[in-house]
Amino acid sequence: MTQQDQFGFRNYDLPKEVERHQTATPQANYTDPKQFEQELDSVFESDWVMVGRVGMIPNPGDYFTAQVGTKPVIVMRQSDGSINAMGNFCLHRYACLLEGAGHTKRIVCPYHHWTYQMDGALIGVPDRVGFEKDALQGLKLVQLSCDTALGFIFVALCDDLDPVAERLGDLGDLIGNFGLANYEDRHVVHEEHWDGNWKLLIENFIESYHTTYTHTGSIGPTNPTNLAEFGPWGAPGFAIHSNSYREEDLPEIYNPNLTEDEKRRFYVISLFPNGLAAVDANFVWWMALEPTGVAQTNARWGLSYAPQTMADTADANAFCATIRDVIETATAEDKEMVQRVQKGASFGTQTPGFLHAPLELNIKEFNNYLAQKIAGEEASC
Ligand code: FES
Ligand SMILES: [Fe+2]
Repeated sequence: MTQQDQFGFRNYDLPKEVERHQTATPQANYTDPKQFEQELDSVFESDWVMVGRVGMIPNPGDYFTAQVGTKPVIVMRQSDGSINAMGNFCLHRYACLLEGAGHTKRIVCPYHHWTYQMDGALIGVPDRVGFEKDALQGLKLVQLSCDTALGFIFVALCDDLDPVAERLGDLGDLIGNFGLANYEDRHVVHEEHWDGNWKLLIENFIESYHTTYTHTGSIGPTNPTNLAEFGPWGAPGFAIHSNSYREEDLPEIYNPNLTEDEKRRFYVISLFPNGLAAVDANFVWWMALEPTGVAQTNARWGLSYAPQTMADTADANAFCATIRDVIETATAEDKEMVQRVQKGASFGTQTPGFLHAPLELNIKEFNNYLAQKIAGEEASC
């Protein structure tokens, strides 16, 4: 049962287990270097970390580089079509092997030209007689766990985690009609630096309370705060809510599998710990966060498009350019607010702020996940 309050917000009956009055994340959690170290250790080095989309590396030899916590990694498409993640450092004297994104059938270290196959096997060492004969036999770059779900790639520094699809529980069913794994990955930005703690980007993305007020030049008018819908609540691996289009702004929909609700909704999802995705009938706006300091984050982000939309819209390139403009404006609006919170939080008060119920309760779910990881209640390595 929903009603509207005097501001036009939908007022939801919350599940019994959800406490309506919740406090916001304490300021120190965005500024404390010890807390940050703990998160690198208990979260980024102990769980699946989203790094990008499958379509970024369609062909054998395609690769991109990323950071899992502080660790540099290579993500590369193999000759059998699988995706491999490896430590991005040379086995000789540790030089970082690859930077950015590209294509290569051989990984050649720029320092002394040790050479590796796509799967990381060492196959070439200049002036080999200078090394002990057997010491270099069978060497391979450090192999990391790698998995895919919904078209996203995940890497883990542990090798004892449940598969990502299992971890995401019923999310695959909840948004199954969208066919997200098949969305075409047409736009990727590898580096977008924010002066904000990584958790601020998550918290900003997963609440729609700010939409009307922050996004005045982009999605605020079309997807206003008072059309946001809560839940479902309580999944351990993700948080989800939706923010609908106003009827007069409903875009043309080309995917015949969607229900009426799915046609108007813009699902906003956090794949804990560091993945974000806003999914609608025509496109997904995603981010994979890389913390680079307690108050600095790199967001690799992209836009992928529903195949039906790309096939049936009159001018797919023009459509993509329009969406990109809106999302770039939305990103700039979000960035300004995240950076304002980071600055405000440097005051260091011990009195926490407040969360709107239900529109900011996804932040509580995220904090619950973090608390669990830090307490070591989940498997970690
Ligand atoms: S560090 Fe790579 S070849 Fe020397
Ligand atoms: Fe936003």
